Amino acid sequence: MGSSRGPCSVLLCILVGFCAFYPSSATDFTAQLFVNATKDSTTTIPDTLFGIFFEEINHAGAGGLWAELVDNRGFEAGGQATPSDIAPWFILGDETLLVLSTDRSSCFEHNKVALRMEVFCDSKGPIICPAEGVGVYNPGFWGMNIEQGMNYKLILYLRSYNPINVSASLTDSTGSQTLATVKIIASSVSNWTRMEFLFAAEATNPNSRLQLTTTQSGVIWFDQVSLMPVDTYKGRGFRNDLFKMLADIKPAFLRFPGGCFIEGNRLPNAVRWKDTIGPWEERPGHYGDVWDYWTDDGLGHLEFLQLAEDLGALPIWVFNNAISLHGEVNTSIILPFIHEILDGLEFAKGDASSTWGSVRASLGHPEPFDLRYVAIGNEECQMKSYRGNYLRFYDAIKHFYPDIQIISNCDGSSQKLDHPADMYDYHIYTDANTMFSKYHAFDYSARDGPKAFVSEYAVTKKEDAGTGSLLAALAEAGFLLGLERNSDIVEMASYAPLFVNTHDRRWNPDAIVFNSAQVYGTPSYWMQQFFVESNGASLLNSTLQASSTTSVLASAIIWKNTDDAEYYLRLKFVNFGSGTVSLKITINGVKINTKSSTVTTLTSNNVLDENSFDKPAKVAPVKAPLTADVDADGKGMVVTLSQHSLTSIDVLTYPDSLYAGTS
Ligand SMILES: *[C@@H]1O[C@H](CO)[C@@H](O)[C@H](O)[C@H]1NC(C)=O
Ligand SMILES: *[C@@H]1O[C@H](CO)[C@@H](O)[C@H](O)[C@H]1NC(C)=O
Ligand SMILES: *[C@@H]1O[C@H](CO)[C@@H](O)[C@H](O)[C@H]1NC(C)=O
Ligand SMILES: *[C@@H]1O[C@H](CO)[C@@H](O)[C@H](O)[C@H]1NC(C)=O
Ligand SMILES: *[C@@H]1O[C@H](CO)[C@@H](O)[C@H](O)[C@H]1NC(C)=O
Repeated sequence: MGSSRGPCSVLLCILVGFCAFYPSSATDFTAQLFVNATKDSTTTIPDTLFGIFFEEINHAGAGGLWAELVDNRGFEAGGQATPSDIAPWFILGDETLLVLSTDRSSCFEHNKVALRMEVFCDSKGPIICPAEGVGVYNPGFWGMNIEQGMNYKLILYLRSYNPINVSASLTDSTGSQTLATVKIIASSVSNWTRMEFLFAAEATNPNSRLQLTTTQSGVIWFDQVSLMPVDTYKGRGFRNDLFKMLADIKPAFLRFPGGCFIEGNRLPNAVRWKDTIGPWEERPGHYGDVWDYWTDDGLGHLEFLQLAEDLGALPIWVFNNAISLHGEVNTSIILPFIHEILDGLEFAKGDASSTWGSVRASLGHPEPFDLRYVAIGNEECQMKSYRGNYLRFYDAIKHFYPDIQIISNCDGSSQKLDHPADMYDYHIYTDANTMFSKYHAFDYSARDGPKAFVSEYAVTKKEDAGTGSLLAALAEAGFLLGLERNSDIVEMASYAPLFVNTHDRRWNPDAIVFNSAQVYGTPSYWMQQFFVESNGASLLNSTLQASSTTSVLASAIIWKNTDDAEYYLRLKFVNFGSGTVSLKITINGVKINTKSSTVTTLTSNNVLDENSFDKPAKVAPVKAPLTADVDADGKGMVVTLSQHSLTSIDVLTYPDSLYAGTS
């Protein structure tokens, strides 16, 4: 994402045939689609075409995919100078009974700030503590989701000169209902001591908090207080429901961890991979000053590589190349930045005996990761130092890792790049009509240069997209059909942003919306499911004939279903107009069998309809058996496309008729 520079490029919309005409009149139309499935007229879509882009924006990771429930677990978010803001930790009891402050007494070198809790009341003597105790609570990221019967692991570090008697509890948001509680009782903790407890929740509340309370006077220091659900994806720390949303769109690649997140407004706030690996307690965390929130960096470099591996996706590491949104390091003094990145590549790819590969192995992943792509910076083509810095990174990486594909920030779709690159980055945020017309964006791009990586696309105009409308999804589907058609030069594409926590909407719209306990996909998320089978499929030559006022786009692929090992013909249609279209389809070169054929439709009554927590599937794909009249010879059919719809028709082919030649 780019926060201050706007979309990277504006291309000419070349209006041939079926550019956008929204809204159009409610007349019905007829159209014809000719599909040529003979062998010579098919091409193969890259295996990598559709994937995902994860940026730490909108609390996508911290308070999102990363399942840590405590926000500001190390008390570092308020900065290193003390006194510091400890929010969202808050006081339980009043200041006559206890004082909460921070000092720099932690046992962790890189995050020295710790919480000091001094309690004046006691169970006896002049000031009696309230029965429920006094202390501190943390509501997590707008409430912790605690579920009955599930287990939660509490790890914390503490120290006190006196014996301690502390209750750790999970409660509702007011502290009146207790969902689980454990006793922390110890007599000699004068040195920092790590403690671990398991909570078994006895009730469910999506808006819970963690409390640490006592009825005993004295001073206790706390640091690195973590609460994780035991049940995360493969125990890796990824929130199950959010991981599933990603797995369901079978992403071919994972671009990470940003976006502007990797740049920072100011360079000291850019993410540095070495600060994000190793024991979580020892990670310093950092303030993401572009999207304006602190992250403890539990989701670090290793976790991203692991996430890609778990998703069966190829990792694409976007790194900082000594340029931030508001500052650049002169090319003559960037060598340390280059070393940092070479170390990061060795961490990912080096064998377990190499310096950084051995660090990876010691963290539990002896096998190298399949890292084949890196992007040098994000949206920085116009920056003064970009080319200079880029070339130094490029040369160094190609020297040590000649096989790594390097992605440039400069757009090569309309003119040749003035520097070497394996791919170029292309970002587009626009209105719905323009997006639909971008079906043609790559029609006239050079065929001999580096390939395109459309790493960020979305309809963002507020009136069109809202917080995720059907209209936006249809326009994007039109754009993606164009990418399929131009997939000889478009290698990869991903929607942006991927996630939004509804409590921190920095950017609208987004593909996946969640809070502590719920999740739904926007129409743009569901739209991507129509393209899941495209990676590695055969693209057929298809020709649509319609009047120029029809806003229909189509594509045809043949894909192999790994479940039944059958080949299916998938026809996709976007009807961007407000009239129904009767479409006659003629297929040459393959015979179709309508047995077990389906039609899947994404549409709604109103083109601006959106999903919500209450109605998560208001605009979602509906799958039904195909009822169209298929010609007796299995070579054609007539279907009706409803207004404002994305449709996919999956028909079984007779395998022996596949690519049988013209007949
Ligand atoms: C289908 O494509 C093949 C190969 O390009 C071509 O020879 C044939 O004429 C095409 N058929 C139709 C009906 O367009
Ligand atoms: C697709 O078909 C059209 C019309 O028959 C033809 O002009 C075009 O060359 C074909 N493209 C390919 C890649 O076969
Ligand atoms: C700890 O405190 C509770 C009251 O909160 C008290 O009932 C209990 O006896 C104390 N335990 C010890 C070992 O001091
Ligand atoms: C506390 O740590 C110091 C320094 O490591 C050590 O000498 C001392 O024995 C420790 N005290 C206790 C009570 O463990
Ligand atoms: C980098 O520093 C050198 C030496 O001061 C200067 O000549 C050059 O213009 C600087 N480059 C940029 C892009 O500012």
